[in-house]
Amino acid sequence: MSRSAAFDLLPGSDKNEVPAGIVQLNRSISRALRRQRGDFQYYDEPAGDPSLRQQIALRAAKRGWQAEADELCITSGCQQSLFLALMAVCQKGDVVAVEAPGFYGVLQLLEQLGLQVVEIPASAETGLDVGAFEQTLQRWDIKACVVSPSFATPTGASMSLHSRVHLIELAERHDLAIIEDDIYGESGWLVVPDTLKAVDHPNRVIHCSSLSKVLSRDLRLGWISGGRWHDDIVRLKLTSQLASSRFIQRGVADFFADGGYAAYLRRYRQQLQCQRDQLLDLLGTWPIPIRATSPAGGLALWLELPEHVDTIKLYNRALDEGVVITPGELFSMSGKFSNCLRLSFAHPWTRARAEALMRLPGLMA
Ligand SMILES: Cc1ncc(COP(=O)(O)O)c(C=O)c1O
Repeated sequence: MSRSAAFDLLPGSDKNEVPAGIVQLNRSISRALRRQRGDFQYYDEPAGDPSLRQQIALRAAKRGWQAEADELCITSGCQQSLFLALMAVCQKGDVVAVEAPGFYGVLQLLEQLGLQVVEIPASAETGLDVGAFEQTLQRWDIKACVVSPSFATPTGASMSLHSRVHLIELAERHDLAIIEDDIYGESGWLVVPDTLKAVDHPNRVIHCSSLSKVLSRDLRLGWISGGRWHDDIVRLKLTSQLASSRFIQRGVADFFADGGYAAYLRRYRQQLQCQRDQLLDLLGTWPIPIRATSPAGGLALWLELPEHVDTIKLYNRALDEGVVITPGELFSMSGKFSNCLRLSFAHPWTRARAEALMRLPGLMA
């Protein structure tokens, strides 16, 4: 199975239900489109619409980071932000550290860019093992480390403040960039953790994020704050994309400014918490021993199954039954995590979803 085939929708998600917040977002974007006059004949500035950057900066301030709009560049999603960050910092053949298990999209980027990968173990609860990273730095000349400090995929782990500070110290001592993937940062229902930027005194963190996971994947709207590499990153955005769509940015900026986003997010976080609980309750009834993470944010949890279970084989059997899972092996380059899988709780609970999940243990023989 290829990494690009990985997704974890289970049957029963109702694609036709549109939450009220999304209806409001769509209205904001429609209004922005109607207001557009001669803009369609011009490109936006490469860094993106100042009003949207200002709104993103205001939200960053709530998470311990006094960002300026000038420090931000709008992108077409977090994947593009990660791509721009790696392009700005690395040359072909350079070594990049990633957490394992970690996001397969980063592994694909590293492969595409001809970069070498060093995997650093990550705890399912507390994320990147910074002590292990420190040891790895003794042996490898590492250019950058890609990390998700808040609600990492696939585990939902979050790093402690102590680990975050230690990571920044190492970046400064070893002259490297930390690429922060914060795509799930705002999803937390107990706390919304500060960004890694909040403790980035040497300006070594490149912050990457988007609205894909908390609002809409279809907006294709993200951002990047490149720290000391920011000017290069804006130039790379210019050469690779020229500009972002202005009316979409303005519509989203209005949705932020009139409180629509904050209200939507409050409801969405509650919904996620409820869906996580429903999933954990159901897993508690499985007749096999498992270990599941219980994250307080993000959209998925990580399941460790008995050693003998091969989740790639399970993927194929489950697919025949109409159940789609994300096998653990996709989250590493080194064939680890073959008895693990990621399960999503991003979608509203349905009877069909519950029944599909109850069929899984029977397919593990
Ligand atoms: C951890 C992580 N980072 C980045 C991305 C890419 O996000 P976007 O849709 O904003 O490009 C994803 C999408 O699955 C993700 O899970």
